[in-house]
Amino acid sequence: MFTVGILTISDKGWRGEREDKSGEAIRQILSRLDVCIVNYDVVPDEKEFIVQKLIKWADEDNLDVILTTGGTGLSPRDVTPEATLSAVDRVVPGFAEAMRAESLKKTPHAMLSRAVAGTRGSSLIINLPGSPKAVRECLEVVLPALPHAIETLKGQASECGTPET
Ligand code: MTE
Repeated sequence: MFTVGILTISDKGWRGEREDKSGEAIRQILSRLDVCIVNYDVVPDEKEFIVQKLIKWADEDNLDVILTTGGTGLSPRDVTPEATLSAVDRVVPGFAEAMRAESLKKTPHAMLSRAVAGTRGSSLIINLPGSPKAVRECLEVVLPALPHAIETLKGQASECGTPET
């Protein structure tokens, strides 16, 4: 079992002008795994709000995984990758590489997501794009690697097995 936080980053969601369908899509997909969703919040596209939330969830709440959705694109307000890079102590490029590679098979717009991933202490932070469709497509890609990522991050992995496909 691992603990998860879902952080939706959206000005409209924060103002209550948009239902958070992307956070819900994350919940639905995670329900297939043995996870406990401990934290959930919606914050605006403000770098400091996002950084503070990521730091609190990693350092105080010790979450195993923090999944963000939204704010990874090119609009002037999109700052999720910059906030994430401020919060992490190690970048883990493979998650974003894999998400973009698979997503490009579905839409050329996948190259517009600047999503990043990294670790802060023993928490793994992964950016997902903002739409529910993109969340589903990207989370499916990284899901098989999550349990082993968390084990290794905690120093609990006995050996590096290859997940069955
Ligand atoms: N990735 C997948 N798999 N599917 C998608 O539909 N949409 C793209 C991209 N990544 C998309 C995707 C689009 S249109 C944008 S603008 C960027 O993600 C950034 O989205 P965000 O700013 O909501 O995070």
